[in-house]
Amino acid sequence: MSESDRETSRSFSPAELQKIADRHGIDMAEVAPRTPEERLRVLRQILSQQDVAFPISPVRAEVYFQNAAGGVPFTVGALSETSVDLVEYAAEQHHDRYSFEEHLSWACLLSDQQRTKHQFACREYLAGEELFEIGGTVIPDYYILNARIYQQTGWQLATVNRIIPAELFFTCHSYRFFPVTTFMRPLEQDYLQEPDIGHDVAGHVATFTIPTVARLMQDHGKARDLIYKERDERLSKANNEQQAKGICTRADELLAYAERIYWFTVEFGLVMQDDELRAFGAGILSSPGETAYSVHSPAANRILIDPSNEQNLVLLVCTDYLISEYQKTYFITQDFSLLESLTPERIVRAAEKAARVPHFSWRDVIPGDTVLNLGQAATTVNEKYYRLVAGQSMDDCMLRTAIRNMQVLSKETDPLDDGTQLDLNTLWSVPMPELPELLKGAPMPKFKPQASDVELKPISFVADYK
Ligand SMILES: [Fe+2]
Repeated sequence: MSESDRETSRSFSPAELQKIADRHGIDMAEVAPRTPEERLRVLRQILSQQDVAFPISPVRAEVYFQNAAGGVPFTVGALSETSVDLVEYAAEQHHDRYSFEEHLSWACLLSDQQRTKHQFACREYLAGEELFEIGGTVIPDYYILNARIYQQTGWQLATVNRIIPAELFFTCHSYRFFPVTTFMRPLEQDYLQEPDIGHDVAGHVATFTIPTVARLMQDHGKARDLIYKERDERLSKANNEQQAKGICTRADELLAYAERIYWFTVEFGLVMQDDELRAFGAGILSSPGETAYSVHSPAANRILIDPSNEQNLVLLVCTDYLISEYQKTYFITQDFSLLESLTPERIVRAAEKAARVPHFSWRDVIPGDTVLNLGQAATTVNEKYYRLVAGQSMDDCMLRTAIRNMQVLSKETDPLDDGTQLDLNTLWSVPMPELPELLKGAPMPKFKPQASDVELKPISFVADYK
């Protein structure tokens, strides 16, 4: 979605605004940015702090302060010597240009989020929000937020104007820059296809304070570096355009598979804490509805995994998903320390395995899984093939996975070595008449997984959600 395609907020009458504020428990008088003097006083005070993990040198702090005081809009690299080139995706935050309705939209979202976060977020996340003062009734001023984040974690904000390509997204991560939009969803709009400040800041930023999660984020950046370094080496030896294209496609595919580990942890991860389920994924915690759903809904599968276990990691990297609705499966790690095993090298190796083997859809439950909740939407791995042959409906994730697996299983040669790596765009091209042939000899389907297929592990849930 381009900037110009975005929906803009319809205008509301003062009475309508009051009603919206009341419904979310917001005092309209508090929806007011700091005065310029107060803003600079706070910024000066933050910049002067030296007893922090990443102190800012007085010289750099002064330049940063003068930029803010002089009305220079916030942009990437405002604080450190290193920066990242965001090319056409670079944006600036003009904090003084946000409208009252945009600030109110932030305030309403945060008010809704806080209700569920305080019940279901892990304690480190809540502490991170407090540390960065995420909350309040005004869209965060990136000059202030960025200085706070940098001092505590070494991460910085990289302002972008829309969703950016995965390669650039993870390049930023490699240098501890986190891409954030400067756009706030229109008032009274709950669902957005693309991330906004409500997701990027109120979802992600607090997770930078969880050391293993922050390291996992950066390690995804380093995994990207390894994948594209190898791509460039192979490209330098490519003999023709077709070979070069295949090499580029393979690198993009490997990154897409690596991204699944990020998806099921950084975006949609759950962790056990004091024998209860808690969320730490930014995708979960930026959505008040999904926060409660991820922990409580009987519809979702909840599968306990140990990321340090090779088989569990392959399960993660081979699980496909959709971004357009609440997740059908959440993976739970027993402890944050287990994420430490996800080094850049392991992430790349797992992605390489994913390129060779059949994948699972986000509904699949696999014999041997340690299941905390067998979701209403759960299916066995074979169901998708039979539905495909029978022409029955299924979601895009099942369909995509079924067709891809058919292609992989029908190949006689190793997809990594034949120069014709899987192209995600051609997944729809399996000739339908050949499908029954491909299914010959496949085990009979069992459409609903049984409790006996998996290890069901009862856990005590958090108090009932209202
Ligand atoms: Fe995100």
